[in-house]
Amino acid sequence: MKEEIEKLMEQVRNLACANAKDVEEARVRLLGKKGEITKLFDEFRTFSPELKREFGKKINELKQAATAKIEALKEQTASTAVSDGPKEDLSMPGTPVPLGSRHPVSIVRQQIVDIFRKFGYDVAEGPEIEDDYHVFEALNFPPNHPARDMQDTFFVSAGHLNPLLLRTHTSSVQVRAMETMKLPIRVICPGRVFRNEAISARAHCIFHQVEGLYIDENVTFADLKQAILLFAREMFGPETAIRMRPSYFPFTEPSSEVDVSCNICHGKGCNICKGTGWLEIMGCGMVDPNVLEASGIDSKKYSGFAFGMGLERIAMLKWQVNDLRHYFENDLRFLSQFKTAIEV
Ligand code: PHE
Repeated sequence: MKEEIEKLMEQVRNLACANAKDVEEARVRLLGKKGEITKLFDEFRTFSPELKREFGKKINELKQAATAKIEALKEQTASTAVSDGPKEDLSMPGTPVPLGSRHPVSIVRQQIVDIFRKFGYDVAEGPEIEDDYHVFEALNFPPNHPARDMQDTFFVSAGHLNPLLLRTHTSSVQVRAMETMKLPIRVICPGRVFRNEAISARAHCIFHQVEGLYIDENVTFADLKQAILLFAREMFGPETAIRMRPSYFPFTEPSSEVDVSCNICHGKGCNICKGTGWLEIMGCGMVDPNVLEASGIDSKKYSGFAFGMGLERIAMLKWQVNDLRHYFENDLRFLSQFKTAIEV
């Protein structure tokens, strides 16, 4: 009996199991109904009182050690339960997730930004809620200019000298650029703008612009014309011609409106260009010396040009969209048509 208890004690001490199945086998072998320790107890029960006294303590110690060891091994191997292999069919095809597409306005914005980046322009952004100074005053708008009227501008806080308002153009970002950037300045300002207009197929109270500004010594109207011609050819194709018509903006002098040759009828006249062969794409001009001086730039030494265009309008011309409201209604039937337009 003594040797057997010692032999089993040794076995319990060295017992090692790799997984839960092995632990269960060991438990049955030692402590199960026909297990080796159980058998020892059966034999022990037949012993005389003297022998029971001699082996009682040892045999109980063996049982306790075996029970504790099995418990410990159970815990250790709980996470290594043998799996029966994957339950899912890994060869089944996945559920396709439909890919989104970029918004046409954001595609056009990216194209314009990429073109001007190539010309060496930086991109600047500014706040959509602006003050009167940066949207109007610093840009040479006379105090009674109609654009400051409640008809055109959404005021956030009216009534003081420098009220807060939703910017009506991103020229305000150009003012901030003139205040903070070192000369020469070459910057484009993409962003959302707001005007108090009745919503129709041709007008909306929210739209997007990219405006540009170049200030250096000896910048002339010829530089402006060349920059816009290069831009128009990159944007609408190498055959594109431009035409400039005199115009008026408070912040530029002289000012001009720019048309590009119609890329649909190639100048012959169609219903997109209303038979003229030309499409209007932007306003531009030489920065008024008053505007330079208002931002602390010496107008005797420096000159510059500025331009600004509406992105919805450019996208309309590019893809012949006939209603501006489509851009804001998030109708997937409209938006999903621009899937491949990124490569265009
Ligand atoms: N800021 C003008 C607008 O909102 C566009 C423009 C910019 C015109 C720069 C001339 C020069 O319409």
